[in-house]
Amino acid sequence: MLVDGKEMRPIWLDGDHRTVKVIDQRLLPHDVVIMDLRTLDEIIYAIQEMVVRGAPLIGATAAYGVYLIVLNAPDPSVPEDYLTAESERLKAARPTAVNLAWAVDRMVPAVRTAKTPGEKRSAALAAADEIIQLEADNCRRIGEHGVALIRELRDRKNGGTVNLLTHCNAGWLACVEYGTATAPMYVAREQGIDIHVWVDETRPLNQGARLTAWELGKAGIPHTVITDNAGGHLMQHGLVDMVITGTDRTTYTGDVANKIGTYLKALAARDNDIPFYVALPSTTFDWTLTDGIREIPIEERDPDEVRYIQGSDGGELRNVLVPPKDSPAANYAFDVTPARLVTGFITERGICRATAGDIRRLFPER
Ligand code: MRU
Repeated sequence: MLVDGKEMRPIWLDGDHRTVKVIDQRLLPHDVVIMDLRTLDEIIYAIQEMVVRGAPLIGATAAYGVYLIVLNAPDPSVPEDYLTAESERLKAARPTAVNLAWAVDRMVPAVRTAKTPGEKRSAALAAADEIIQLEADNCRRIGEHGVALIRELRDRKNGGTVNLLTHCNAGWLACVEYGTATAPMYVAREQGIDIHVWVDETRPLNQGARLTAWELGKAGIPHTVITDNAGGHLMQHGLVDMVITGTDRTTYTGDVANKIGTYLKALAARDNDIPFYVALPSTTFDWTLTDGIREIPIEERDPDEVRYIQGSDGGELRNVLVPPKDSPAANYAFDVTPARLVTGFITERGICRATAGDIRRLFPER
């Protein structure tokens, strides 16, 4: 994506092949600062503190994490118990996005089967690069499939502007390129289809207001930031044609874990007969779970993320306390939208309904 005239991804490997570079998303949109990650501990810190976030990007970062495990191994033969212990530590960095475990589980066998220390390093690097390119390609395809839905809505409105609503940030910052929920928006823009995006601010960390609004602004896509509770009102007044969100983990039966508040958007969309689509690469399906509400682990984060709001008045970022200083807060980071509320999935292989049968028809090898 072009940022101030420079083509950027949220993650890349430096020319020295020893340093993972990431955009520090905690500082956006006010500052674009690059952070260097050179050790597994730094990778874990970046994932936990949400320097990087969003399911596919967490997976991409974890892939480079395994590469750094190999590169920095005290014994260059990377003994099996060391590889297992370090990769398990990496997998535990955040619980909800399944891309983390998926990426580590794809990286580890590549390291294991390589023989010499040099081969292990090259195999890890090649496998990580492959994962990152795969996520970029997946997102492009999601955009190409998803734009058909937007075009259909445009035609139904006789060429009027299509109003989309999205929650959190499922954009290129959360992925590698294009994003998932935003990919159909970017492709619509390329194809000259008029869209406008309602951007939920997404409390407590405001990924919508800070990140999605920034991305859409850079791409020249008309958008409006709204409070998290405004969507229902807009839907009742015919101001939303379709909701598109991303997901952190979706069961093969169609239950969708995504940023807290997504479920309420799906309920409001159903009540107002508005299509509710979830855009995801196959790397975000969990092929082992059947009941998302009971089985998907929901991260609970520091309550101070709820109690304090962060922003800038043009200078340094500042934290401002909102509730009484002794009021407790709870910070559930994700919720689960049951399959019955999801109109369909937009994947790299096409669009399907949120049923086990339809998902498996698109991905028969699973
Ligand atoms: O806590 P975050 O910012 O990592 O949560 C991100 C989301 O919930 C995204 O919507 C999801 O990962 C999809 S990203 C393409």
